Amino acid sequence: MIKIVPLLIFNIIWFILPPYIANMAPVIWGGGPPLDGGRLFFDGKRLLGKAKTIRGTFVGILAGTIVGLLQHIVYPFPSLGYALLRGFLLGAGAIGGDIAGSFIKRRFNIESGDAAPLLDQLDFMIGAIILMYPLGLPPLEIILMSILITPFVHLISNAVWYLAGKKEVWW
Ligand code: CTP
Ligand code: MG
Repeated sequence: MIKIVPLLIFNIIWFILPPYIANMAPVIWGGGPPLDGGRLFFDGKRLLGKAKTIRGTFVGILAGTIVGLLQHIVYPFPSLGYALLRGFLLGAGAIGGDIAGSFIKRRFNIESGDAAPLLDQLDFMIGAIILMYPLGLPPLEIILMSILITPFVHLISNAVWYLAGKKEVWW
């Protein structure tokens, strides 16, 4: 027990860091022209909406990859190539999942910025898990714990952003 619990926590943190940072980076460095170029889907609603930008997408994927590289420096993976690919897949997966979440929200008539509970909190983690699958996922308990804690971490960090005046709404 004494050895297993810290190891479990370390593995969870190590797994969630690239997708978490990838998901946060566009909030800070995103903005500019939208990824969907303002285009509408067949339903007449925006394809993705104004909150998914080209710069944010690029910055998010890059952030995930850089985190993977930093993790490799702190605690080496089998190779540098593996570390970079892992960071890229977790970052791109997070950004892709978040984009898919926006696509789904628009189809259900939920405006950019309006809440879609659980989808808003989990879309990026689900995307990261899917893209990471071919390279090999950590054990199931790590995946499940990562998913379980994510909505709580999300709520807490949003509250912090809100109190810091960086976010309009607390959720
Ligand atoms: N962002 C971005 N590019 C992305 C993802 C996010 O530029 N691919 C930036 C945008 O500035 C966006 C902010 O990050 O406003 C927060 O993203 P998110 O919380 O996903 O936006 P929402 O307002 O929730 O929009 P949506 O309903 O589409 O999820
Ligand atoms: Mg979102």
